[in-house]
Amino acid sequence: MASCGTITFIFGFFIFITAVNTSSMNVKCSTESVGEHGHESLLNCVVETAADDQIRVVIWKKGEEILLRYYDEELTLKPGYRFADPSWMNTRNVSLLITNTVVTSEGEYSCKVHTYNGDDGSTVSFKVKAKYSEPRINSIPENIPPNTDSTLICKSEGGYPQGEIRWFDENHQDWTKSSKMEVIQTDNGLYQLSSNLALLSGSTFSKYTCVVFNSSGGKEGEATYEITSIPEVYGSLGAEEGGKEASKIVAPIVVIGSLLVGLLMVLLYKRRSHQARRPSAAPLMGPYMHGGGCHHEECRQEAEEVMDTNSPA
Ligand SMILES: *[C@@H]1O[C@H](CO)[C@@H](O)[C@H](O)[C@H]1NC(C)=O
Ligand SMILES: *[C@@H]1O[C@H](CO)[C@@H](O)[C@H](O)[C@H]1NC(C)=O
Repeated sequence: MASCGTITFIFGFFIFITAVNTSSMNVKCSTESVGEHGHESLLNCVVETAADDQIRVVIWKKGEEILLRYYDEELTLKPGYRFADPSWMNTRNVSLLITNTVVTSEGEYSCKVHTYNGDDGSTVSFKVKAKYSEPRINSIPENIPPNTDSTLICKSEGGYPQGEIRWFDENHQDWTKSSKMEVIQTDNGLYQLSSNLALLSGSTFSKYTCVVFNSSGGKEGEATYEITSIPEVYGSLGAEEGGKEASKIVAPIVVIGSLLVGLLMVLLYKRRSHQARRPSAAPLMGPYMHGGGCHHEECRQEAEEVMDTNSPA
């Protein structure tokens, strides 16, 4: 009698499946929804049921908190929530409208519906996003003279979820590693980003770009800072630079000049002592110093030899 039991079981199962399919109604919601801070948001749900069926109960909750309840032909709403479709009863579009989306609107929402044909429910995971403001760059000092240590500060706020600030130079090289970002979550849950990029003197490029990326890596905005110098500051520095340049030229001239003067003096002295022919000069200078002191050919040759070995290479 085992086969009889099996047949009965299969038959019963078949009837069960058919019963579920025909007598049930379904609540179909979008599983995920994203809303924008400060705007209306829609949590989309529709009831799929037979044409002659009628909705008797609708309950929208966030966690355990009831936001909307239609029961006993009576509608109860928490401020800030309502049916998105005013004719929901006929259209069976039971979507929930959040009239003013804030960061704390994020969460799991559930919708339960009861009709003459049955009960069903579904959930929606709701996320919030907010766009970051256009970034702004300031510098410390306010005007960066060339060859000075400085800091660029880039700020952007009002975004959600947490984003990121990155820095690039004019050649698109990433300088983010040299920066420090500070993140502040304000009372309304939105983020304030501030990033400091330290610039060392001498290693600076002329242009820096600060780019704000949202949490999913999308670019939200950018600002560019050009390192320009104020004319006066540049002028005075230019003069200083000019002075340095001049001294670079003057120094060798002075050295060469004194050498020439020295050489001239030596020559003059030589000439004078030669012309003077003081008898005392010869012994004083020694016989080897100049030909004038030598009277013999032998001595002259000796003098020349000594001068050769003495003369610097
Ligand atoms: C439900 O109604 C809202 C408001 O009219 C509409 O924006 C939404 O698209 C509707 N949903 C469906 C599934 O039709
Ligand atoms: C990030 O930015 C991209 C591109 O602009 C956008 O498509 C995406 O929705 C944004 N994501 C968030 C979480 O803001």
